[in-house]
Amino acid sequence: MKMENILAASIAAGLVVVLAVFLGPRLKNRAGGFADGDVFRARREAMVAGQIEARGVKDPGVLKAMREVPRHEFVPVELRNAAYDDRPLSIGLGQTISQPFIVAYMTEALALKPGDKVLEIGTGSGYQAAVLANLAGKVFSVEIVCELERSAKEALLRLGYSSVRTVCADGYKGWPEEAPFDAIMVTAAPEHVPQPLLDQLKPGGRLVMPVGTRLSQELVLIRRTGTGFKKESLIPVIFVPMTGEAELKHSGAHY
Ligand SMILES: C[S@@+](CC[C@H](N)C(=O)[O-])C[C@H]1O[C@@H](n2cnc3c(N)ncnc32)[C@H](O)[C@@H]1O
Repeated sequence: MKMENILAASIAAGLVVVLAVFLGPRLKNRAGGFADGDVFRARREAMVAGQIEARGVKDPGVLKAMREVPRHEFVPVELRNAAYDDRPLSIGLGQTISQPFIVAYMTEALALKPGDKVLEIGTGSGYQAAVLANLAGKVFSVEIVCELERSAKEALLRLGYSSVRTVCADGYKGWPEEAPFDAIMVTAAPEHVPQPLLDQLKPGGRLVMPVGTRLSQELVLIRRTGTGFKKESLIPVIFVPMTGEAELKHSGAHY
C-alpha cells in the first residue's frame, strides 16, 4: 500500500472510533434504548407514581423534588439498581437510607416554603437533605457517625447541593449556633422529644420525627404556636434508634 493510502486509512479508522464514542449513546437512544441517566429517571417517575402519589402524597413541590433528586447517587454502588425500590436500604455502619415514601411523607408534613431554614437530624446518606434543599432555603444537617457525615458531604457537594451544610455531632442538642429554624426533621427515633429541638423551633415552626422504642414508634408532627406546642400523631413507623444523649436521658420534654 502507498504511503498516502495508509495515511487515509488511518484517518478513516480514527474517525470511526470518534463517531462511535460520541454518537453511540445517541444512536442507541434513537433505537429505543436508554442511557444510564434515562433509566434512573424512568425509575424515579415510576417510584413517584406507584409508591408516593398512590399513597396520598399530593404536594406538587414534594413530588417534583422526588422526581429530581438522584437517589441512586446516595446509595452504595452495589445497591444502585435497588435505589428506587419500595424499601429502606443499608448505607453501611448499621444505618439506612429511608424508604422513598417515608422521605416524601415527612417532607410534605413540614409544609416547607422557599427560603425556610431547616434543620435535619440524621444526615445518613445525605438524600433527605437534598430533597429538603429542593424545597427550602438553607438546610443544616447533623450526623453522629462522622464517616457517614463525610461521605454525605462529598455526595452533596459533587451533586451541587450547595445550600446544605452538614456537621458531625450529636443531634439531640440540635444546632444552637444556627437556631431558630422554620422546620426540623429527625430521622432517627429517640424515646422522647428532645427539649433542645423544641427550643430551636421558631413560632409557627414545624417539627416532624419518629418517637418510641425499637418495638413501637410513631411519627409525630409538633407545631410551635404563639403560646406553646401542638402535637399530632401521624403514622406508625420503624426507624433506627437515636444514639448519643438520647440513650442516656429517660425523661423527655414537656410541651
Ligand atoms: C434512617 S438514617 C437517616 C437517613 C437519612 N436521612 C438519609 O437520607 O439517608 C438515621 C441516621 O441518624 C443518625 N443518628 C442517630 N442518632 C443520631 C444523633 N443523636 N445525632 C445525629 N444523628 C444521629 C444515624 O447515624 C443514621 O445515619
